[in-house]
Amino acid sequence: GIVDKGEFPHFMLKEIHEQPDVIRRAIQGYTSDNSLDLKKLGIERLEVSKLEQIHIVACGTAYIAGLVCRSFIERTLQIPVNVEIASEFRYREPFLLGDRKTLVIVISQSGETADTLASLKYAAGHECQTLSICNVPFSSIVRHSQSSILMTAGPEIGVASTKAFIGQILCLYLWSLAAGKEKGFTSIVEIDEALAELKQLPNQVAKVLETKSDIEKIAAKYNGYKSFLFVGRGSSYPIAIEGALKLKEISYIHAEAYAAGELKHGPIALVDKDMPVLAIAPNDRYQEKTVSNILEIRARNGIIIGLGDSENKHLASVCDDLMSGPSSSNEVFQALLSTIPLQLFSYYVACQRGEDVDQPRNLAKSVTVE
Ligand code: G6P
Repeated sequence: GIVDKGEFPHFMLKEIHEQPDVIRRAIQGYTSDNSLDLKKLGIERLEVSKLEQIHIVACGTAYIAGLVCRSFIERTLQIPVNVEIASEFRYREPFLLGDRKTLVIVISQSGETADTLASLKYAAGHECQTLSICNVPFSSIVRHSQSSILMTAGPEIGVASTKAFIGQILCLYLWSLAAGKEKGFTSIVEIDEALAELKQLPNQVAKVLETKSDIEKIAAKYNGYKSFLFVGRGSSYPIAIEGALKLKEISYIHAEAYAAGELKHGPIALVDKDMPVLAIAPNDRYQEKTVSNILEIRARNGIIIGLGDSENKHLASVCDDLMSGPSSSNEVFQALLSTIPLQLFSYYVACQRGEDVDQPRNLAKSVTVE
């Protein structure tokens, strides 16, 4: 049927709020009787045991979904995983192990992005196996891939991708568990545990959505700045990239993402009272390191907007403002959860600046030209 905004002023806000349902539909769609549905996860058409390397290739937010899942896939399948921007991959003549030993996973909300499609064709022409993760059934990318997973995001109208990102992460995560099982690396117990944790996620995301008025206030305090730095470590680093991308896309504020540990190799020179630093610092094994980076920024009069556990007194004490985000021991779920406050932050900043959130200037929902 026709998609409308319902009670929401913008599609983007509506789609942000649909994310708990995107996760619920993924659980329903890719599992049956508490085990993974290998067919829906694209495993049946692949020869997983042959794989020696994986390249994940995509553009924009879909590329960032690949970055989020990279370490998890490497650990689960015990093979190297490269994540690359499609417009680079397709032209650089990448070295690919032929003979079906390489899997190229392409991710695309629309299934029509020209560079991603060209990368897929390049891979298919070099004896690689291919898997696509798309939100649009029968799209060009789906039709050209050996195997595909259909995302559970539902139609996405807002140009800046939100719920599709969550759908992409879930597909990659569940696909790698299923592929791990196929290889004999992932036990049924591990899958049970992962699925039990996954079932908590929709409510955790819904809880983050309840903090939106706090985020709106923080946005109001910072919406006049000209430039932001987003930093994180581990799976929070790609979320820094995604957070910065969202801010650029819809509010037209310059935002740059850096791995927190890399700050000292350049960007710390930019830090002053005019450039807020958004630091993603969940309760994980990287937190202490990120906090020491925060202290380095403070020592140079930088402003810190933290994203992390608001109960964490130490973290709260080193941040000028703290957006509260839940913690998860699962690095992929942690990344997913940290995404939500940043979507809301960019949404409110853009609205407060009077920008056209759903139709940002110069951008297209799907880029079918080079
Ligand atoms: C455009 C959109 C982005 C999207 C990117 C990749 O730039 O504005 O939101 O992430 O294309 O699109 P795809 O459909 O391939 O995921």
